[in-house]
Order: sequence, then C-alpha cells, then structure tokens
Amino acid sequence: MTKIITIDGPSGSGKGTVSRLLADKLSFQYLDSGALYRVLSIAATRRNVDTANKVELALIAEHMDVIFKTSAQGDFDILLEGENVTSDVRTETTGALASQLAAYSEVRDALMKRQRLFARGNGLVADGRDMGTVVFPAADLKIYLTASIDERAKRRHKELIEKGEDVSLRALAEQVKARDERDINREVSPLVAAEDAVVLDTSNMSALEVLDKVLHIIDFKRLV
Ligand code: DC
Repeated sequence: MTKIITIDGPSGSGKGTVSRLLADKLSFQYLDSGALYRVLSIAATRRNVDTANKVELALIAEHMDVIFKTSAQGDFDILLEGENVTSDVRTETTGALASQLAAYSEVRDALMKRQRLFARGNGLVADGRDMGTVVFPAADLKIYLTASIDERAKRRHKELIEKGEDVSLRALAEQVKARDERDINREVSPLVAAEDAVVLDTSNMSALEVLDKVLHIIDFKRLV
C-alpha cells in the first residue's frame, strides 16, 4: 500500500522545501500541487484564455502536458508541452493568478484527478492547501505548517532576491496577505488544517528543524 503524507499550509510556510526533503529522505514520490495550479495559469495566459472562462480552464487543466522531473543537478524541473517553465512557475504574478484560478471548482476537479495519480509506489509526500482535507482525506499522516505573515514574506523575499527578482518586502507582505485571504476564504476547498493534522508553527524553525520534527512523528507513528 502506498503511504501518503500530506503537508499543507499557506505560501511561505516552508511546506515546499520540507516536502521535497522528506520525499527525498523516504524515497517517496513528491507532488507539488501548487505547481499544477501555477502551470495552469501559465498555459492559460499563453493561450489567451479569459480568466473567467471556467470551462476552458478546466479543459486545459485536464489535458495540458506537464512533466515534473529531477535534473542531473538535483534541481526540480517543470516542463509544459516540453518546454522548461520552472522559473516562470515561481514568479509572484504566476502565484497570484494560480490562486485566482484555484477558486473555481471546475479547475479543482480537473486537477484532483491528476493529483491522485501521484499516489504510487512506496509512498507520496503531497504538498498544497487541501491535500489532507480534500485530495487525500485518508492520508496516513497530515501535517499543517504555518508561520507569521512577516516571516513568510521574509522567506519569499529571500527566495526572489536570490532569483534576481527585485520586490520590496512590504509589497510582498501585502501580496502574501492577499493570497492568504483568497485561499482561506474561497468557497471550494479553502485553506484549512484538517481536523486530524499535526499543526507546526515554523516561524522560528529552519527547514531542517521542521524536517527533523516530521521525521520524529513518522518514527513515533511507525509509519515507515
Ligand atoms: O503553494 P503555491 O504557492 O505554489 O500555490 C499557488 C496557488 O495555488 C495558491 O495560492 C493556491 C493554489 N493552490 C490551491 O488552491 N490548492 C493547492 N493544493 C495548491 C495550491
């Protein structure tokens, strides 16, 4: 049986880094569900699809050709129709549009099928907003990561500066807040901790400390 570990939380909570490290450590599959919403927003922009056209967006979500692959250098690459879109995927503009399209139930249903296909082999670490509540409600372990808005904005800022994007910290904090509000208040699959999730505040923790804590829980539960 494929073991499933879900790691949900708002943007900048550290779920991406921790999930990747954990999947690597356990030799599990890794699902970056946010990347699917992000790739959809790139595909829709390239096709000039009206962002209100839910039917067309759902069709693209269902049929777009997306491949996640780890490069020889250990980088995580995302290909859309064969083209490497990794750096486009990570921009704030893409994230904001992804959050907007993610509010449509038609889009969520289409992406749900794709997400569930990642559950194969020994196990899966799935990161997102609704992994533990909607996509994998029977997961073996559910983690919900959170952190203060300031800390999350700082993390995002560092990440973007390293990538050569010039954004002010204040503007980022506003964007993080706006995205939180949209993700938390939407009607379908809002961002919320599953009732049976272990909630960790990562404000004062490094990614490695969070990983350590999660591994501890996995050990304690004799999950693997
Ligand atoms: O985790 P992320 O920042 O890459 O996600 C981008 C957006 O996609 C996020 O603001 C909301 C949406 N999303 C979602 O609604 N459900 C998920 N499981 C993952 C992401």
